[in-house]
Amino acid sequence: MKKWSWKWAALWAGLAICLGACGQPGGEKSSGEQQSVQTEDTGRNDSGAEAEDPEEVKSDQPEGTRADLPGGDTPGLAAFYEDNFPIGVALPGFVFENMDNYEEVILNNFNSITCENEMKPDFLLDREGSQKKLDETNLQAAVHFDACMPAIEFALKHDMKIRFHTLVWHSQTPEWFFTEDYTEDGKLVDREVMLARMENYIADVLGYFQENYPGLIYAVDVVNEAFDPGNGDENGVRMKDNLWYETVGEDYYYQAFVFARKYASEDMRLFYNDYGCTDKAALILERLAQAKEEGLIDGIGMQSHLSTGDRIQYKFMLAVKQFCDAGYEVQSTELDIGVTENSEAAFMTQARKYRSFFKNMKSLQEEGYPITGITVWGLNDDLSWRTGEYGLLFDKDMNPKKAYQGALMDPSVPDVE
Ligand code: GLA
Repeated sequence: MKKWSWKWAALWAGLAICLGACGQPGGEKSSGEQQSVQTEDTGRNDSGAEAEDPEEVKSDQPEGTRADLPGGDTPGLAAFYEDNFPIGVALPGFVFENMDNYEEVILNNFNSITCENEMKPDFLLDREGSQKKLDETNLQAAVHFDACMPAIEFALKHDMKIRFHTLVWHSQTPEWFFTEDYTEDGKLVDREVMLARMENYIADVLGYFQENYPGLIYAVDVVNEAFDPGNGDENGVRMKDNLWYETVGEDYYYQAFVFARKYASEDMRLFYNDYGCTDKAALILERLAQAKEEGLIDGIGMQSHLSTGDRIQYKFMLAVKQFCDAGYEVQSTELDIGVTENSEAAFMTQARKYRSFFKNMKSLQEEGYPITGITVWGLNDDLSWRTGEYGLLFDKDMNPKKAYQGALMDPSVPDVE
């Protein structure tokens, strides 16, 4: 396996502004909710008709030829993109318990891990411990790290890094964390108490990693999915089912960045992570402007839950450039590209979209856009949250799919354009 390369990390560390023209935001749209899968915009125009799509994949297109693959023995993804960015994978706890089935593929292809769930607040917050502490303080909930320990140990053993996901999110954060007595039906605490709890939570979590595993975490999703015009206030800040909004108020996401910057070490890059970034780019940039100006945030995590109908070069990449032009680094943090049918033709279409995605990200990075990572959201189609959409690079038996060859820009997968 190719080990983690800090070459690019060092390169980006001091890079504030990137080059390139700013494009209009496209219409990326995606998932985000645990319960329902929303995929990307499929390029429909206002009349509902299919818009003309320069990236349309025609199945009868001739096989492309590319001679730029390092010959014979194809390297895995991490090695292939070593000079560009780390390649990550989201892994559930289940994988660590059955590692024999997965280890080879993981070690051959990835140099970064995101815990699919085990670093989310519902795993890190310790309810019993918090209740026990109530006599002493109601401002600092207890945390525990047992669930993510297998991921930490695996990463350390194999010299991989971890993308931390996620500190402040409306979802997968237990209701009891927001109440006076840490019970589900307790009274919600006020802004002051919740801000103190937020600060202590962020300090405790980031502090834990810094003290025990310095250098392990290279990126932190400080806030996930705070902006949603459809379910938001007049500024597009998500209100629906959002106890952070209810207790702390409309600036909760800003406060999270204040605390994260205060307690993060310098090598932890701080991210705002969201779905639908092509549609929401302008809103995201506007809402984060103050935090950015104050140096509290480093990057935008574009979740990238895509579908084969999505335009990658002419839409997704424009948003990437837009964020970069505004001075952010960009990571694709939860990539999957869903297809609706299980057929060879559909998998070839998917492969070409993967190719387009990786190829465009690579060339933008090479042009100087600070793209600092791509993480696929799951290891194989069976482990994907998008049931029945076959969105990933490996099939249920861990065989590489055509999509995998697409991601490697293999000549057997023609370009989309
Ligand atoms: C969002 C979250 C992820 C994950 C997916 C669904 O994208 O950011 O953590 O929960 O939804 O699996």
